[in-house]
Amino acid sequence: MATTQKLIERVKTGIPGLDGILHGGFIRGTNIVISGGVGTGKSIFSMQFLTAGAEKYNETGVLVTLEEKPSELRREAAQFGWNLEPLEVEKKLIIIDAASSKAGLPSSEEWALRRGFDLNTLAQEIYKATKTINAQRIAVDSLSGLGLRIESAAEVRGSIFKLSALLRELGVTSIMTSEILSKSAGLSRYGVEEFIAQGLIILSLEEEQGELRRSLVIRKMRATAHSLKRFPFEISTKGIVVMPSGEI
Ligand SMILES: Nc1ncnc2c1ncn2[C@@H]1O[C@H](COP(=O)(O)OP(=O)(O)OP(=O)(O)O)[C@@H](O)[C@H]1O
Ligand SMILES: [Mg+2]
Repeated sequence: MATTQKLIERVKTGIPGLDGILHGGFIRGTNIVISGGVGTGKSIFSMQFLTAGAEKYNETGVLVTLEEKPSELRREAAQFGWNLEPLEVEKKLIIIDAASSKAGLPSSEEWALRRGFDLNTLAQEIYKATKTINAQRIAVDSLSGLGLRIESAAEVRGSIFKLSALLRELGVTSIMTSEILSKSAGLSRYGVEEFIAQGLIILSLEEEQGELRRSLVIRKMRATAHSLKRFPFEISTKGIVVMPSGEI
């Protein structure tokens, strides 16, 4: 087992405490879903994965934003000391604004879906951006923003499969976030993400003794003998920091 683990190349998530749990990080080239309820840290996870890649590990990245405008993300990132703009100028990061077109609004961003939103156009932009800076990491935040018709299981499955297949085909290490609507609503927004992706990390924010506590669980991670424990984490001034388990 030890030799097999060594043959697999790992990509550091850049999230303190998480890489150890994952035996060094995500497997290079895999597609992982990060799911969780509102405000559990999915967007912060996405930005941290990409900024750590660009700043610490010399890996360029593409951030596909479907819900928040790039300007909002830049402002939020700055709170954790991640300055996205210089990374964009240096071509270490591209932010694709898919949120404006989704909302029917114009975009002043360099990378945006100008002819309206559809999955094929989005796929083309992701492809172009990845090739432009030779990106090694991609974050799609979030799948809920695709606005898929939940009643059409075939459309949902087809669209998410297409996106996941593109990301794998590009050879990048990628994450897609997915919003869980309620505690009883399953592992992801559409209930198919965890089957399509090669890994699933669930972020939670739950009340315990009158206080909300954050924790995460690695629910699935192919080719990785991962822990099944629940790990508490914090969102600090430096972003997400995962604590050793056993504390909750
Ligand atoms: N500077 C900060 N320091 C500490 N915690 C913060 C800071 N900024 C945001 N947070 C916490 O992070 C949460 C937002 O995280 P994030 O935007 O990543 O969540 P999300 O899962 O993407 O939410 P949504 O489902 O709304 O998109 C806030 O609700 C807040 O609890
Ligand atoms: Mg978010």
